[in-house]
Amino acid sequence: MTDVYLKHPLLSEWQPKIRDCQNLQSLEEIRIHLLGKTGLITIELKTLGQMAPDERKSKGAEINALRDCLSELINIQKDELQKKALELRLQEETIDITLSPRPEKTGRLHLLTQVMSDIQSYFSDLGFQMVEGPEIDDEYHNFDALNIPSHHPARQNHDTFYLKDRPSHLLRTHTSTAQIRTLTKQKPPLRIISIGRVYRSDALDATHTPMFHQLEGLVLEPNINIGHLRGCLTDFCKHFFGSSEIKSRFRPSFFPFTEPSAELDINCSRENGQLKIGTGDNWLEILGCGMVHPTVLKNCGIDPNEFQGFAFGAGVERFTMIKYGLPDIRALYDSDERWLNHYGTRY
Ligand code: PHE
Repeated sequence: MTDVYLKHPLLSEWQPKIRDCQNLQSLEEIRIHLLGKTGLITIELKTLGQMAPDERKSKGAEINALRDCLSELINIQKDELQKKALELRLQEETIDITLSPRPEKTGRLHLLTQVMSDIQSYFSDLGFQMVEGPEIDDEYHNFDALNIPSHHPARQNHDTFYLKDRPSHLLRTHTSTAQIRTLTKQKPPLRIISIGRVYRSDALDATHTPMFHQLEGLVLEPNINIGHLRGCLTDFCKHFFGSSEIKSRFRPSFFPFTEPSAELDINCSRENGQLKIGTGDNWLEILGCGMVHPTVLKNCGIDPNEFQGFAFGAGVERFTMIKYGLPDIRALYDSDERWLNHYGTRY
């Protein structure tokens, strides 16, 4: 902007007004007032007609320059105001995604959730990988591949829920399906655990529900033996029940997918109707386990001479009831708020 234009009275009058203008609407009104069809510049231009040619020439150039100058000032201010408006909008419309969607955290973690995450972190510290499988599975994964052929009486023991419209599909009756799903996908050596819902068409009473949770563990490494299994499970029980004194024993048992098979008992006392783990010389049965059956390994394309392994399966609800002294499994599913507040932990 040269001095000559800055000296024009219109410019000295309007330059500060434009700079001070704080909203786009009034700036537009100023623009129309100055540069519009009937604006001040047009009025100025009309005066040219009565001038002598020389004067008209210099005055014309001056008015044109004045118009350009005003128009530039308006544009600069317009940009400025638009920038400010955008900044304001961005500030106002900011969404703080770190805020909790719930203003007050009144929820709690259910006891089963706490137990399952404790089990998971215990085993992950030992290098076990967490795997998941489908709750709707097929007879092959739930039975056949686990060495439970269709004529096998063990199938009847499972009280299976079959799917009406999907032949040979069922709600898995145990998490041992995880053994097959893992072994057919992953090469040993491996250590996995799987925790999830299982379903059995059982009674509904103080110790049974048609849906419950199981923990499945599987270790497949060269030179694994039954001593490792016993040590692994006894250590886990010591951790879970919070007692370093726990004694354990194996009782021979039968599962088609393990050989030999066993039930693990831990010592307890039952004085005055109170169950205490890790003291006394009574025994409490807590889970089923065994060395993975060679047929299961072969079914998954693994050479049983190269890899041995152990597997175990435990009921999460049963473990929870023993640890917290719950007499009735149904309390876990009653959704009684007083119970939930008592056993739930804040997170
Ligand atoms: N799947 C068995 C059950 O549901 C438990 C089990 C798992 C036993 C793994 C041995 C090995 O009863």
